[in-house]
Amino acid sequence: VGRLRSRVLSVNKETARFFYEQLNAPTEEAAAARAYWRGRGLSDSTIRRFGLGYAPNDFRALRMHLRAKGFTEEEMLAAGVEKRSEKGNVYDAFRGRVMTPIFDLRGNVIAFGGRVLGNEKPKYINSPETLVYKKSKAMFALSIAKKSTSRRYILCEGYMDVISLHQAGFDTAVAACGTALTAEQVRLLAEYADEVVLCYDSDEAGQKATARSLGLFSESPVKVSVLNIPNAKDPDEFIKKFGRDAFDRLLNGTSNAIEYKIQKVKSKYDITRAADRVEYIKEVIRILADGVSPTERDIYAGRLAEETDVAKAAILNQLDAAVKAG
Ligand code: UTP
Ligand code: MN
Ligand code: MN
Ligand code: MN
Ligand code: MN
Repeated sequence: VGRLRSRVLSVNKETARFFYEQLNAPTEEAAAARAYWRGRGLSDSTIRRFGLGYAPNDFRALRMHLRAKGFTEEEMLAAGVEKRSEKGNVYDAFRGRVMTPIFDLRGNVIAFGGRVLGNEKPKYINSPETLVYKKSKAMFALSIAKKSTSRRYILCEGYMDVISLHQAGFDTAVAACGTALTAEQVRLLAEYADEVVLCYDSDEAGQKATARSLGLFSESPVKVSVLNIPNAKDPDEFIKKFGRDAFDRLLNGTSNAIEYKIQKVKSKYDITRAADRVEYIKEVIRILADGVSPTERDIYAGRLAEETDVAKAAILNQLDAAVKAG
């Protein structure tokens, strides 16, 4: 197993090199792939730093290349870069896609994510789990981010978000790709980060993931905060539209977990109406009653009193009752 594992790493490394070189092949499809990355605003140096590439639209190009390098089909299949059809034919797993390698902390290539150039589905295909790739433990770009002098990490949803952020100078961007964040990934991040800023997509799915991740971080020593992306669907699009300074300002205005939860609740109500105010206060009290320190309770009760124009004493009373009720 130890030997196959190291062969799988070698297959992955050679595959990453192949995809990178294919980007410069003298073909129309390679030109389209280069145009794709360029169209997404990536510089040559970003392409090089992330080892981005292109998998030609061919069922055997990679297999022939790896075979010439001395790899067996068993090794290629074990790496997940080849698949076997029901009829028993072995074929390239990634075809006609722009490719992003995923590295482990030692700089080994452990997996790939491949994106279509257009709007076809599925948008991304990722490597399957292999001897060297456990999705629940991998963290995209952590091998780069860990070299940063900053211990404030930016956790995003997608490969492109991470790559764009790095290109814009935010060198602690990482992502848990192709999977929901796990407790293992939170522990891994805690080795490098003092603070993690959750920076998921602004859509419903991203907001759900934010709420879920806040729960995971609540049991971690890492400080967690939330950055909401206004007027764009994700950090990549935001940077493209508004620039790096605008993103920097967002980073200076992140919310902590309590503030984020309160904002979410508030957006459901029209607090100029008395009935809405009552419901809003109830919901915030439920948030503050659970796992929030007395100091924090006092601060947020004060803010709530002010914005709803209700006496702070009344809110604190109700909060005390909620805390006692558990
Ligand atoms: P998104 O749908 O938000 O894609 O998925 P994106 O990263 O913004 O991609 P672009 O900007 O359209 O290129 C977020 C992440 O979820 C995983 C990928 O890791 C993706 O980066 N994903 C998404 C998949 O694994 N498969 C899919 O089909 C879609
Ligand atoms: Mn070759
Ligand atoms: Mn998304
Ligand atoms: Mn995107
Ligand atoms: Mn997205």
